[in-house]
Amino acid sequence: MNQTLKLLTERGSCRAFKDKKVPRDVARRLIEAGIHAPTGGNLQPYSVIKIEKPGAIRELAGLCGQKFMEKAPLHFVYCVDLHRLKRWAALQYAPYSADRSLRPFWLAFQDTVICAHSMCVAAESLGLGSVYIGPVFDQMAAIRRMCRLPKAVVPVVSLAVGYPAARPPVRRRLAPEAVVHDEVYRELPDKALLAAYAEKYKGISEKVSAERLAAFERTCEGSQGGAFARKCAAAARTAGYFNVAQLRFGLDYKADLMLRLTPKHLGMLKAAGLGWPSARQGKPSRAGAAHEEAVRPPVSRLS
Ligand SMILES: Cc1cc2nc3c(=O)[nH]c(=O)nc-3n(C[C@H](O)[C@H](O)[C@H](O)COP(=O)(O)O)c2cc1C
Repeated sequence: MNQTLKLLTERGSCRAFKDKKVPRDVARRLIEAGIHAPTGGNLQPYSVIKIEKPGAIRELAGLCGQKFMEKAPLHFVYCVDLHRLKRWAALQYAPYSADRSLRPFWLAFQDTVICAHSMCVAAESLGLGSVYIGPVFDQMAAIRRMCRLPKAVVPVVSLAVGYPAARPPVRRRLAPEAVVHDEVYRELPDKALLAAYAEKYKGISEKVSAERLAAFERTCEGSQGGAFARKCAAAARTAGYFNVAQLRFGLDYKADLMLRLTPKHLGMLKAAGLGWPSARQGKPSRAGAAHEEAVRPPVSRLS
């Protein structure tokens, strides 16, 4: 196995850091790796907010509700940035609708994450540890204020970086056979599907308590109704423990909460300046329709 493959397959998210700053030139190398990541049309529709001041790190950790973040000396908040391109287009007398259309956002989101992950891998290669922080999305409004993000710049995820206090464990994944399909998608038989997840999460479960069972049942009811909730609760009660699917969707990333939050999340994106028109509003003008790219999707290979 070469060094790159070793690094990719033996990494683990790091949540305990040494009390040691990341030197400026090291941080710079990470950033250079990030901005050289592939990006649709070579447009780089993202901005990265580098956070090193202890007060700001505490604030970010508080917003994300994860105390361990305070120990990481360097944080990068990755944002889709459809604002800088808008300014550039305006200054260059070019048309622009990327902050009002779904397709550019879809690509920008991918570009942003790809940039982040190049930095994550680069960090690992330099002996640093890192962990992604997802709740940056839920805290979009506060983080936009904190980082003074203009409209059409929205935080997607952040990465906490530092020197690892100990080597993070390598966590099991689904086997390739469970995620890769030759040529066409094929459903795994139920037994094989259950076996694949059982192998991945071997040894992880939680004993059922009355309080957690009630919370679990509430989530099931809120997402799929009372009859379903009773069935799920009975299964957990009989087993005497929650399995990982029940823990993840019933008690961690609660299925009913996710449904309730969706309108809020869409509202936050709108408030952040990304309001997509409805299908009707989005109809091209007569002149535009004549040039509609129905034949093939737009492709650009800017160098
Ligand atoms: C988009 C994303 C968001 C994540 N958010 C968090 C987080 O908020 N807190 C955390 O401790 N880990 C977070 N993680 C790390 C995952 O928990 C971790 O990657 C997963 O459990 C697999 O473990 P491993 O990275 O050690 O292999 C996140 C990872 C990703 C990709």
